[in-house]
Amino acid sequence: MRVISVVNQKGGCGKTTTAVNLSDCIALHHRKVLLIDLDPQSNATLAVGMNDNEIKSSMYDVFCNNMSVRDIVQEIYPNFFFAPSRVTLTAVEQFLSGKEGRETVLKECLQPVMNDFDYIIIDCPPSIGLLTFNALKASTEAIIPVEMCTFSMQGLGRLLGTLELMEERGGHVVSFRALATIFDQRTKFSWEFFDELKRHFGDKLRDTKIHETVKLKEAARAGKPISRYYTGCIGFFDYDKLAKEIIAEEPEKKEKKSEQKKPKDKGIRFDCFAPDAQSVQLVGDFNNWCPNQIHMLNSDGNGIWTKTLLLDKGKYQYRYIIDGQWIHDQRNKKTEYSPYGGLNSVIEI
Ligand SMILES: Nc1ncnc2c1ncn2[C@@H]1O[C@H](COP(=O)(O)OP(=O)(O)O)[C@@H](O)[C@H]1O
Ligand SMILES: [Mg+2]
Repeated sequence: MRVISVVNQKGGCGKTTTAVNLSDCIALHHRKVLLIDLDPQSNATLAVGMNDNEIKSSMYDVFCNNMSVRDIVQEIYPNFFFAPSRVTLTAVEQFLSGKEGRETVLKECLQPVMNDFDYIIIDCPPSIGLLTFNALKASTEAIIPVEMCTFSMQGLGRLLGTLELMEERGGHVVSFRALATIFDQRTKFSWEFFDELKRHFGDKLRDTKIHETVKLKEAARAGKPISRYYTGCIGFFDYDKLAKEIIAEEPEKKEKKSEQKKPKDKGIRFDCFAPDAQSVQLVGDFNNWCPNQIHMLNSDGNGIWTKTLLLDKGKYQYRYIIDGQWIHDQRNKKTEYSPYGGLNSVIEI
């Protein structure tokens, strides 16, 4: 059971977009996920398609009316459960002020549902007030989205200081990782800024970047996670990659990984005919569908891009990414429908 806060006191850095789409992508990998909207602005609630007037009870009732989390949660997609927020949540800070144990109310309220879910993800408000304290006290981990812009590092020191203080004073450790968001890969600025983040955070910066794409904005406006809106965009692949990265950190996964056998020494050659392409990549089950890992080469200049992989016996689905477009292998008749839409090519070894 993991509880992950998505937190940064800066607004507009992609907290809600990350909380919603990460929760959904983890749920697609057959984990039971509860997403909690802890922001009185209720952006996550809107982003999953709920209207304020449809909500009978919300996180406000959990904090102030002794309602159980179980009573306010709704399953919005298979495995994806949601606890909504309303603007009334602003009153929580005042309601709790001066009360003993005011920073651990959420933690207490989550205790009874801990075994109901594999993940609880909390979308925090853009401030370090009592709500954010409650989220952090209930969490074992935090994701800090950092937008690729000059001022995004300002104020981060205070958040990191808060995490340190929690550890020093209360022995509560929240292991955090920063996440680069709204990354425009066309600009030199983004790449330079990412390098700066890497220098600043070291291995506390996640490798996965969330690229800028209007599809994520459109999906939020449509009240849907990106997987239910448009899977053919980098936004979906980035969040799915992040989900896989987080799932791979599950304790039992880590153990399994170290037990994995080495691939057999058998090269499988992939050929892709794309004479006009600037770049061709290969993605598939064999690399968890991560872009920017396997770059194909057009070394003979004949338009055929090749890559040889060492793979174990088995069946693999794959696609080529030709100049950013994900397409199946036109020369391979064996295809299967992808659960996320479109066709994947299939190879059996
Ligand atoms: N990767 C992205 N590409 C394009 N727009 C994005 C991306 N991530 C977030 N946005 C947009 O930026 C705005 C702020 O994002 P949001 O997730 O609401 O931030 P926060 O919760 O930190 O305030 C929203 O309009 C959202 O749709
Ligand atoms: Mg938000």
